[in-house]
Amino acid sequence: MCGIVGYLGPREAYPIIIEGLRRLEYRGYDSAGIALFDGENLKISKTKGKVADLEALADKEITKNGNVGIGHTRWATHGVPNDVNSHPHLSNSGELVMIHNGIIENYETLKQELISKGYVFHSDTDTEVLVNLIEYVKKQENIKLGKAVQIALNQVIGAYAIAVFDKTKPEEIVIARLGSPLAVGIGEDEFFIASDASPFLEYTKNAIYLEDEEMAIIRFHKGIKIRKIKDDSLVAPYIQELQMNLEQIEKGGFDHFMLKEIYEQPKAITDTYRGRLLRNEAIIKMAGVEDNMKKFLNANRIIIVACGTSWHAGLVAEYIFEDLARIPVEVEYASEFRYRNPVITENDVIIAISQSGETADTLAAIKLAKSKGAFVFGVCNVVGSSISRETHAGAYTHAGPEIGVASTKAFTTQITVLTLIALRLARAKGSISSSDFRKHLLELELIPKKVEKALESNDHIKKIAEIYKDSRNCLYLGRGYNFPVALEGALKLKEISYIHAEGYPAAEMKHGPIALIDENMPVIVIATKKGHYEKVVSNIQEIKSRKGKIIGIVTEGDTQVRALADHVIEVPETEESLSPLLTTIPLQLLSYHIAVLLDKNVDQPRNLAKSVTVE
Ligand code: F6R
Repeated sequence: MCGIVGYLGPREAYPIIIEGLRRLEYRGYDSAGIALFDGENLKISKTKGKVADLEALADKEITKNGNVGIGHTRWATHGVPNDVNSHPHLSNSGELVMIHNGIIENYETLKQELISKGYVFHSDTDTEVLVNLIEYVKKQENIKLGKAVQIALNQVIGAYAIAVFDKTKPEEIVIARLGSPLAVGIGEDEFFIASDASPFLEYTKNAIYLEDEEMAIIRFHKGIKIRKIKDDSLVAPYIQELQMNLEQIEKGGFDHFMLKEIYEQPKAITDTYRGRLLRNEAIIKMAGVEDNMKKFLNANRIIIVACGTSWHAGLVAEYIFEDLARIPVEVEYASEFRYRNPVITENDVIIAISQSGETADTLAAIKLAKSKGAFVFGVCNVVGSSISRETHAGAYTHAGPEIGVASTKAFTTQITVLTLIALRLARAKGSISSSDFRKHLLELELIPKKVEKALESNDHIKKIAEIYKDSRNCLYLGRGYNFPVALEGALKLKEISYIHAEGYPAAEMKHGPIALIDENMPVIVIATKKGHYEKVVSNIQEIKSRKGKIIGIVTEGDTQVRALADHVIEVPETEESLSPLLTTIPLQLLSYHIAVLLDKNVDQPRNLAKSVTVE
């Protein structure tokens, strides 16, 4: 969480930093700030609110010239979102200015030590503590900024990506990372610093991703030097060529990124299986799986670790792996797994799922599993992300950048990758017949077209959204493969419309939630033809006799549920194991339209951030 941007070079830094912050706003949007050095003066403008508020303020407060600068968009951890707690933070002398993404866990102890040495603090943030610690070390030892940063960071417990410069030596910016991402764009004698590469895509395709426990000293005309924070050893910079382009991170005519990303799903799913699903040859080829086939086939069990929507994709995978590949699966919230001393053996395979590849809890779960000797496989979207680097092997989802905070195409592409893996393992184990295998390949190839068909219900779904937008609660029910889809549908609704919603296995309804049902309770029931259809129909009868409002997600041509439900939304028919890829589409659209009708900020819902790099 929090986005950081910096620039050092011959151009005006202000527009680069502001546009960069706008692109990183998905990482946090409680407050924003900028510090610029114009050759003589250090100018800081910062405010509670969004990047647009910062721009309005900067218009009044500062002149915008200067070739060195840093900027920040915040997701509050320490201290409420207000102007004072916004970044950048200044040291007591006013010389050092710093931005930070992460949490300094021992900040209180460090703060007290600094207070005892005469330092004063204006904000409640851990960042202000760190910048003053750096200043204290620098002055005490009479050393350069880079060295002071290094010594200070060795006293810090926690996570950080920082950028700091000294207004008395503004031709140098020092950056460092542990647990929070940090990229450096390398131009012609100019440097761009950012939490991800999106702020500098139009300037350079060459980037260095800092590894954990690395810091870099970036000097105008002199280049970049990377060192290990622990032992000061030099690291040879590894410059990567970026594959991302600018169009991928723009709205492309849609009102919101979320809607664009919902509509991108046919392409994203195709991109996910392209080159892996070879139907004519009746094979699935995935390098990360082939290279580690023995590990998968000898696994006692697969443990899936993830958070949020990715955890829901993991639950779908549990059904697919057990059903098709006959491998026992456990699905764990990474945040629980990492702290409950789980039993992990060398014969366990861990699959970590993460869109961003930066989620702190998932990363920690991976490290724990590795320390116990387990083989860890990653399913990530962001290429080069921390999780993709920390895992032994993996498969990218190739969904393209997902910018809307509510995850959509990441979910369906995660399911696609996991389905491919399950099918590949099923084939290797012989737990699926050759005809069933071929049938699945064919059906998976048809999914993008069927998603397109499901998207055609958009206008119909919008009308349903108008009827239910003022509901205070909502229940989502599904069975089997579609139980996790019910959880995901409820999560989508609550996170962007702030309507309370719960997902349940349909049969569990009578063990409690049925008490909630009355004429004001919309119940969204996934009732597709394949998979416990008759049983779900019985659940619908139970809701109807209690006057609940029923929105059925049904297979095209369904008549039985149509006769009982208040509304139905059709999706094309497919294999039960692939149905989540279709049933999830109307649920995404329903949440989207309700949130838009309620005038909520769809792409940046309150209190959330896209990349949860704090635990
Ligand atoms: C919900 C959502 C979150 C993420 C969760 C994990 O729409 O986006 O629940 O799924 O924070 O994030 P990743 O997948 O990046 O690890």
